[in-house]
Amino acid sequence: MEVIIRPDADAAAELCAQLLADALRAKPRMVLGLATGRTMERLYARLAAMHAEDRLDFSQAVSFNLDEYIGLAGDHPDSYRMYMKKHLFDRVNIDERNTHLPDGASDDPDLECARYESEIEEHGGIDFQLLGIGRTGHIGFNEPLSAMLSRTRCKALTPETLAQNAGQFADPATMPKRAMTMGVGTILDTKRAVLMATGEEKAAIIAKAVEGPITSMISATALQLHPHCTVIVDEAAAAKLEQRDYYRWIFANEPEWEPYR
Ligand code: GLP
Repeated sequence: MEVIIRPDADAAAELCAQLLADALRAKPRMVLGLATGRTMERLYARLAAMHAEDRLDFSQAVSFNLDEYIGLAGDHPDSYRMYMKKHLFDRVNIDERNTHLPDGASDDPDLECARYESEIEEHGGIDFQLLGIGRTGHIGFNEPLSAMLSRTRCKALTPETLAQNAGQFADPATMPKRAMTMGVGTILDTKRAVLMATGEEKAAIIAKAVEGPITSMISATALQLHPHCTVIVDEAAAAKLEQRDYYRWIFANEPEWEPYR
């Protein structure tokens, strides 16, 4: 794992966008793993600008989102598909037929999860996975006690997550209490993972995720097992990392991979 601390949320999103853009330019048929949440909005705005200004090309890219609420069809205004359309799909030249999210309206959510997992496999797995982090330490919707080897499946959301995300619903009372999510094992199988977290409300969970012991109570700790994971945080989210000076030194002096040099 590599931790990069940027001065603020804009700079964090800028670096994350650059990493994704470099990867996409190197492999235009890239299979992207996409995330939702407020943190990603800045990043998607930056990618949309790169598409408009620098011709960043998504025409051959394929995408798989981490998760979707159970009970919400893709055209429901609070669905993650609608979030993706608003923030990314309608703002770049990705072919919507190449974008995938679990079908929240499926009659058989368990079967839908298995189908989604096979679809990822049929595309050769995910090349570049974006991740946010919830305050419970979830990646995707892998709430506490998610098995380290779990695959895409249904998960009940914790009261804390329900409270954290309720504000994103026009009527919070209609928020589903369950979601379909890629598993921790699905995420660990991605070839490259980039987790972005910003703001002081993420400082405590980022410290646990990066420096704490690996535990299924905090699914983001599993990323310590990922072969190529970068955590990009702003100063506020880095505030509780004990080794933050070391991470700064590494990035300034001996960055771990080519594009930073
Ligand atoms: C939701 C998503 C997660 C995301 C989290 C972070 O819960 N399922 O994938 O990491 O939001 O949200 P925010 O960026 O709004 O803090």
